[in-house]
Amino acid sequence: DLYAQAMVGGNKPVVTTDPNKLEQAARQAMSPEAFNYVFGGAGEQATMHANRLAFRQWKLIPRMLRPTVPRDLRVKLFGKTYDTPLLMAPVGVQAAYHPDGEKGVATACASLGVPFIYSTAATTPLEDVAAAADASLGASSSSAGASRAPRWFQLYWPLDDAITASLLGRARAAGCDVLVVTLDTFTMSWRPLDLDAGYLPFARGEGNALGFSDPVFRRKFAAHFDGDAVEDNVAMASRFWLAEVFSGHAHRWEDLATLRRLWGDGPIVLKGILSVQDAEMAARYGVDGIVVSNHGGRQMDGAVPSLEVLPEIVDAVGHRLTVLFDSGIRTGVDVLKALALGAKAVLVGRPVIYGLGAAGTDGARHVLAGLLADVDQSMGLAGVQRVSELNRSILRRINYGG
Ligand code: FNR
Repeated sequence: DLYAQAMVGGNKPVVTTDPNKLEQAARQAMSPEAFNYVFGGAGEQATMHANRLAFRQWKLIPRMLRPTVPRDLRVKLFGKTYDTPLLMAPVGVQAAYHPDGEKGVATACASLGVPFIYSTAATTPLEDVAAAADASLGASSSSAGASRAPRWFQLYWPLDDAITASLLGRARAAGCDVLVVTLDTFTMSWRPLDLDAGYLPFARGEGNALGFSDPVFRRKFAAHFDGDAVEDNVAMASRFWLAEVFSGHAHRWEDLATLRRLWGDGPIVLKGILSVQDAEMAARYGVDGIVVSNHGGRQMDGAVPSLEVLPEIVDAVGHRLTVLFDSGIRTGVDVLKALALGAKAVLVGRPVIYGLGAAGTDGARHVLAGLLADVDQSMGLAGVQRVSELNRSILRRINYGG
């Protein structure tokens, strides 16, 4: 539809369909600190750049004269069918990029059947985001069934099990299908762009909405505030929230038993896995899936591109765990490559946020719709009808150097 509207109808897209120009459009629309917070990687951004180079090393071998329509982009994850192999990556502080914030992105996702992964570091409480997304579909958040906007919950794992229990209870009540536990961010990384600007959204009271709105969190720190009015004590509350979730103390593998007890039988996915050993640990400790991810190059600078290690991780645990992928997806062909290398679905972060920054909800929706149309068209060109048909036979690794 997008393609026909633009090329046949002559209607220009809401935001550019070129990934590099999109970045420029966001840069112009957003405050320099907010843009740099989204754009930046850790350190000298070596891993962030390597993420893109890793995609370029794989080339596709398209097949001809095969059935390619009607295309089927659906995927089955943890027993549930989703409309697209694309998920919205958990991204914190979305209201810092555009006033539409999480409600805008979640609504954009809902309109396309893209699962929205709600971040622990959001600017809007989970229940409000869920209600807005459902309302945009004409469903109420209490109504069960297929019309509800699909959503998952991402956890920055608090030190205090009572707070974790409360957050997970809320996530379940809000209808989140899957718990995504981010392991690579128990402490913040060295991010020169943000350091130079003195910009950490959490310290300014942004990205703490889930904590601020949490009764257990509020009760625990009540003594430090004037009465219940946490919002009046943003700096103080932010310090406690930071200490809870980015304390620098990593949990241990054994602690996953606590999450299993608190989350129940629902799927648990570990995000930030880059080694075969850890993927095997994940399987041994009874989780359901992993996201092979380097956090978009925002955490450990110098870490391997996640695409580099995806095949070996799939080979090691793909038969036991659902392997998802993120870090560096910018085009439909990128999505095809990750799926062909064995990911069951992919998460995309920055491009959607650039769309949000440039043009709010509509911009976010347009970026997602464009990416999905690109996936669809690229599958057709490759001679592939269904996502489930994608495998390594359509790929060739070629390193031209440089
Ligand atoms: C993130 N990411 C992230 N991940 C997470 O688990 N919780 C979070 O709150 C955030 N916050 C966040 C903010 C911003 C501005 C960005 C860009 C990213 C990481 C995100 O989920 C994902 O791993 C990467 O964005 C994937 O890389 P690309 O698609 O941005 O290249």
